Amino acid sequence: MDSKTFKGINIPGGKALPDLPVHVAVIMDGNGRWARKRGLPRLAGHRAGVRAVKRMVTACGELGIGYLTIYAFSVENWMRPKAEVRGLMRLLGESVIKEIDELDAKGVKVVVSGRLEDIEPAARRLLMDGVARTAGNRGLVLNLALSYGGRAELVDAFRAMAGDLSRGRLKTDEIGEDTVGRYLYHPEIPDPDLIIRTSGEHRLSNFLIWESAYSEMYFTRVLWPDFDRKELLAALEDYRGRERRFGRL
Ligand code: IPE
Ligand code: IPE
Ligand code: MG
Repeated sequence: MDSKTFKGINIPGGKALPDLPVHVAVIMDGNGRWARKRGLPRLAGHRAGVRAVKRMVTACGELGIGYLTIYAFSVENWMRPKAEVRGLMRLLGESVIKEIDELDAKGVKVVVSGRLEDIEPAARRLLMDGVARTAGNRGLVLNLALSYGGRAELVDAFRAMAGDLSRGRLKTDEIGEDTVGRYLYHPEIPDPDLIIRTSGEHRLSNFLIWESAYSEMYFTRVLWPDFDRKELLAALEDYRGRERRFGRL
C-alpha cells in the first residue's frame, strides 16, 4: 500500500486525510489481560495503559482531531476489589502530577465527565487543578470519563431538568432532544464520530449512551496497552471509508 506523510504521521493509503472524525472516543479495555499475559500484577497493566493514553493524546493532537474522550473508570468499576480501585485512584493522581505540564505545553484542554464527587478528595483536587490550569488552551480537548456511566449521566441530566421545571425555568413542551443535550456533562462537546473499543469486547459498557446514537464503532482485538499510533491510523482509515447516512438516503 502507498503511504503519505501527514503532519509528520505516516498515513497508509496514499491519500491526504480529509474526513477525519472531529471527536474520537475510546473504551480502553484489556489492561488486566495485558498484565496477566506477562505474569504482572493488574496495576502494571493500568500503568502501561496510561502510556498508551499519552501516545493517543500526542497522535490526536498532531492529526488535528478536536476532541478525545477516554473512558478511564466507569461507575461500575467501583465494584472491583478495593485494592485495584485504590491503585487506580493513586495512578490517576500520579498521572495528573506527572503529565499536566506536558499536556499544558501541548495546548491540550483537559475536561472531565462523571460523578467526580465519588473520587477521593486528593485525586479530585489534582484533577480540578489540571482542568483549571488548561481551561484556556485551544488545542485538543481531552475529556476524561471518570466515575462515568451513560445512565448516570442521563439521571443527573433528568434531575437537573426536573429542578428547572419545578422552578419554572423550563416548560414541558419546550423539551426536545437538544434540551436533553444541554443538561449532559459537556453540552459543548459534539457527539463522538468514532468510538474505538480495544481487547475484542463488542459492547458499550454504559459509555456515552445518549451521545453514541449515530457514532461509528470500531472494534479491535488489540489490548489497550498495545494500542499505538499505527492502530489509531488503522481505525481512522476504516472510519474514513464509511458512509454515514444518519437515517437518510
Ligand atoms: C480497562 O482495562 C481499564 C479499566 C476498566 C479501568 P481492564 O482493567 O478492564 O482490563 P481487563 O478487561 O480486565 O483485561
Ligand atoms: C469498560 O471496561 C470501562 C472502562 C474502559 C473504563 P470494563 O472492563 O469495565 O467493561 P466490562 O465489564 O468488560 O463490560
Ligand atoms: Mg475490562
